Amino acid sequence: MADAHGILQPTDENLRLAAEALKRGELVVIPTETVYGLACDVFDEAAVRQTFFAKGRPADNPLIAHAASAAEAFALATQAPDYARRLASQYWPGPLTLVLPKVARVPAIATGGLDTVAVRVPAHPVTLELLRLVETPLAAPSANLFMGLSPTRAEHVDRAIAEAAFCVIDGGPCRIGIESTVIDATGVVPKVLRPGVLLSDLVGSVDSAVRRSPGAYPRHYAPRSKVTLVHRLSDGATGLTFGERLEPTAVTMPSDPALYAALLYASIHDLDLLHPELIQIELPPETEVWRAVNDRLRKMAQPK
Ligand code: TXA
Ligand code: MG
Repeated sequence: MADAHGILQPTDENLRLAAEALKRGELVVIPTETVYGLACDVFDEAAVRQTFFAKGRPADNPLIAHAASAAEAFALATQAPDYARRLASQYWPGPLTLVLPKVARVPAIATGGLDTVAVRVPAHPVTLELLRLVETPLAAPSANLFMGLSPTRAEHVDRAIAEAAFCVIDGGPCRIGIESTVIDATGVVPKVLRPGVLLSDLVGSVDSAVRRSPGAYPRHYAPRSKVTLVHRLSDGATGLTFGERLEPTAVTMPSDPALYAALLYASIHDLDLLHPELIQIELPPETEVWRAVNDRLRKMAQPK
């Protein structure tokens, strides 16, 4: 059983302890540039099983393997098309996940029974250092309970998740703030399975109609409070606005999509702590640059 150490600063000593815990088969909450992840050794079936259990995640929802380098990531795949290698060299380390045919050594439990594996090299210096120390790729779903909001601050990791882990490594606020773009790279052309911040860059080089992936549910990324999308916050409302409002419960969000994404989950997390009956969110424009944010907002607002 894990002995929860709470939030630890990323000192050399703490990273060494975390690497040892991972090698023993324990879970560690890691910072990435997108969101925090609940990590374990991807080859350790018992640890992977514990990860699913800690999140309450259905067994058919596959995990992403995080690697220290593109070479380590591609070593988990039997083959990769040229376009996948090009995307990797352009965007790794970074918020891009590639789905590839898996090698036999990656346990089926980590891939939800699929014969493909999702891989990425995260762009966070602390986690890259941890990956080098532990010398194995780490399976890491977002460090939230199933269907919940992904944490973008160490202190936003749900207590039950933190307690299931050896520790939470504090890497500061996540720079990007929403999950990586997931690309199916098993076919002749790349296909988007989950939109992310890279999407607007990638359009043109990928088939950008979003395909269904086993982890794509209509409702997701949701706080405890009910969420509704509006054109303008009502008076006295709790929620996210683009305007200047007097209500202390109205959070003014940036009109730049990247800055908005970086603040989205943390802002909703904070409003959720007030236990409002309803969180209203003003709709951003329906344009390509807002696509990943709009995808998360629509999923948050799906009724339970
Ligand atoms: O930014 C991120 O990707 C974060 C950080 C921690 O890296 N991770 C993350 O993991 O969001 P998770 O488990 O919450 O979401 C993984 C997504 C799911 O939608 C899942 O269905 C998809 O990736 N996925 C994973 N493996 C797949 C596979 N073999 N085929 C299709 N989709 C896959
Ligand atoms: Mg998730």
